[in-house]
Amino acid sequence: PEAITIQELANRMAERAVDVIKLLMKQGQMLKINDVIDADTAELIAEEMGHTVKRVSEADVEEGLFATEDEAGTLKARPPVVTIMGHVDHGKTSLLDAIRKSKVVTGEAGGITQHIGAYQVDQDGQKITFIDTPGHAAFSQMRARGAKSTDIVILVVAADDGVMPQTKEAIAHAKAAEAPIIVAINKIDKPGADPNRVRTELLSEELVVESMGGDIIDVEVSALNGTNLDKLLEMILLQSEVLELQANPDRTAEGVVIEAQLDRGRGPVATVLVQKGTLKPGDILVAGSEWGRVRAMLDENGEQVKEAGPSKPVEVLGFQGTPAAGDMVAVVENEARAREITDYRQRQIREKASVVASAARGSLEQMMM
Ligand code: GTP
Ligand code: MG
Repeated sequence: PEAITIQELANRMAERAVDVIKLLMKQGQMLKINDVIDADTAELIAEEMGHTVKRVSEADVEEGLFATEDEAGTLKARPPVVTIMGHVDHGKTSLLDAIRKSKVVTGEAGGITQHIGAYQVDQDGQKITFIDTPGHAAFSQMRARGAKSTDIVILVVAADDGVMPQTKEAIAHAKAAEAPIIVAINKIDKPGADPNRVRTELLSEELVVESMGGDIIDVEVSALNGTNLDKLLEMILLQSEVLELQANPDRTAEGVVIEAQLDRGRGPVATVLVQKGTLKPGDILVAGSEWGRVRAMLDENGEQVKEAGPSKPVEVLGFQGTPAAGDMVAVVENEARAREITDYRQRQIREKASVVASAARGSLEQMMM
């Protein structure tokens, strides 16, 4: 059931909290300003103080935000979103670098990925969106998020190291997200490389590759030498053909925040993966409890883009505050609507926090008795 703190109720009625407390006291309830009352009690109080009550539910506020289903005729093919996962140092970023022919690894602190990178590459005229994730044990949340918005998972396993804890974790995330897995057995150039050992170890994780009678595709690669990268890309495109990935590009955009941070010069910067519709500069969008007007959109090379359709990752500038990674993004019709939704969500967050706080106080009081 919905609940509200006395302070919040007073604020919404533009009354003094102390008057609300007095009224409750008359009814035999001894409460303090940060205590929570249920919606029915709040309604009674409000009416008694001469206010008309209009209950706003989550459904009212967010109606239509993610509700619209696209009709079959509006759907068009979209590029696959491919997330690279695996144990730390098994070569995820290097593999992506080799595919993009870029040099991301050399710019990373200690060669360790600490955030999600998102890029789109062009393979024979077909686009593939890649999301790089960190393998370090500390970034489990990020991997879970990465898997959630993905169509395909590339599981990178170093041939000289085999299946390790975060390999297993990545498999679990992929399975939870019901994303098909393609195994990239990396570092086959290394003297100690033993691809068959990797295949055997994967059996214990219930991943049976084709050569062992299963249906999981594996490709032996070397990110260092660029071996078999074309084959890997081919397998990705094959898999994505099977999935028949589609979205409606001709509607207001929806997507998900892949990562976000507060940049000193540019303000809040969010990497948004567009999932439906087309995002354009000037669009007003809501992400979690933050909103903004798209001031600029940049691709992975820092180039301005004028529009971003389904499966396109872009850096979005123009948010008022920094949204959280994993937040769903939706374009809304105007600023007033954006404020209505985010005000409501921020209030929800505050109320939840105060429910938790007063629950903690309650149990503390019990302990003291
Ligand atoms: P995290 O993001 O920290 O989880 O690491 P990562 O999986 O992205 O690994 P990264 O690409 O940073 O590579 C780790 C190390 O392995 C680097 O020193 C790479 O040069 C090396 N490496 C990556 N791929 C290969 C390969 O195919 N062969 C050899 N010999 N070394 C490789
Ligand atoms: Mg990396």
